[in-house]
Amino acid sequence: MDTVTTATELRTHIAAWRRDGLRVGLVPTMGNLHEGHFSLIGRCRAHADRVVASVFVNPTQFGPNEDFARYPRTLEQDRLGLAAHGCDLLFAPKVEEMYPFGIDKSVRVDVPVVSVPLEGELRPGHFAGVATVVTKLFHLVQPDVAVFGRKDYQQLLVIERLVLDLRLPIEIVGAPIVREANGLAMSSRNQYLSVDERGRAGLIREVLLGMQDAVNDGMPIAEVERLSRGILEGNGFALDYAVVRSAHTLLEPAAGQCDGLVALVAARLGKTRLIDNLEIDPNPPVLRMFERNHATRADSFSNL
Ligand code: PAJ
Repeated sequence: MDTVTTATELRTHIAAWRRDGLRVGLVPTMGNLHEGHFSLIGRCRAHADRVVASVFVNPTQFGPNEDFARYPRTLEQDRLGLAAHGCDLLFAPKVEEMYPFGIDKSVRVDVPVVSVPLEGELRPGHFAGVATVVTKLFHLVQPDVAVFGRKDYQQLLVIERLVLDLRLPIEIVGAPIVREANGLAMSSRNQYLSVDERGRAGLIREVLLGMQDAVNDGMPIAEVERLSRGILEGNGFALDYAVVRSAHTLLEPAAGQCDGLVALVAARLGKTRLIDNLEIDPNPPVLRMFERNHATRADSFSNL
């Protein structure tokens, strides 16, 4: 695996592949890579002949009170992990390479509608930062396919809409969420958690499964949301939201809508902000009931 830091070197590598008629895939990341990220490399491989990963802690997607300065930077370790997982090229630019006029004077890409609710309300400017850096990466790499995790569900919707609106000829692949043994979605931010918090954070997944069961049992969505909020707050989480939304728009579902739904949770545990989601399966496998060791689906919430 080669590592490059400039746009010029990146273009040279990719031009050579293109001359050979190879299909190029891109996996954008902010580094501090874990199994969740590596699963995207594997998925990208299945869709492309060559895989490019980027590692860039993008300043424009962090709010003024967020963790840009202390975001974990582990480039050497990331490089080894990417090479071991079959990545062909690592692009690890400096801020000046991505923002030659400075971050305040950059062209900005703003994706309306899907950027607005939930994370958009809580983290103003976040998705404009994401859309801006991803557009720059798309222009530099010009990939045939790019892979994003379903962990950041709203981000995936923003990127899908960006590509459709700008008419970019890039296939966007959404990859499943990779979890710890206790159900906690893997995240670079999990290392901010204490051992005790890490154990308790598995509750988010339990609540999401409970939300799915309750929706499938016909419980009104307002009630599902009220119960979820109560369980998480009762267990020491500071809740930003625990909601059921329409999976394509993130708007509140129509009355009686029971298909095409997603449950989303954002909550803080101590100093760490965690997000997770579950695309609601109207017919979840029966097996799950046994895995979760409870008798009927209606018991979901009382078991937590
Ligand atoms: P980052 O948080 O590093 O995540 C990079 C990619 O890995 C994203 O597509 C994210 O959804 C995916 N990912 C993270 N944890 C995952 C997990 N547990 N299972 C599956 N996929 C997971 O998301 C970003 O960086 C940035 O916003 C970026 C798109 C790179 C733009 O700066």
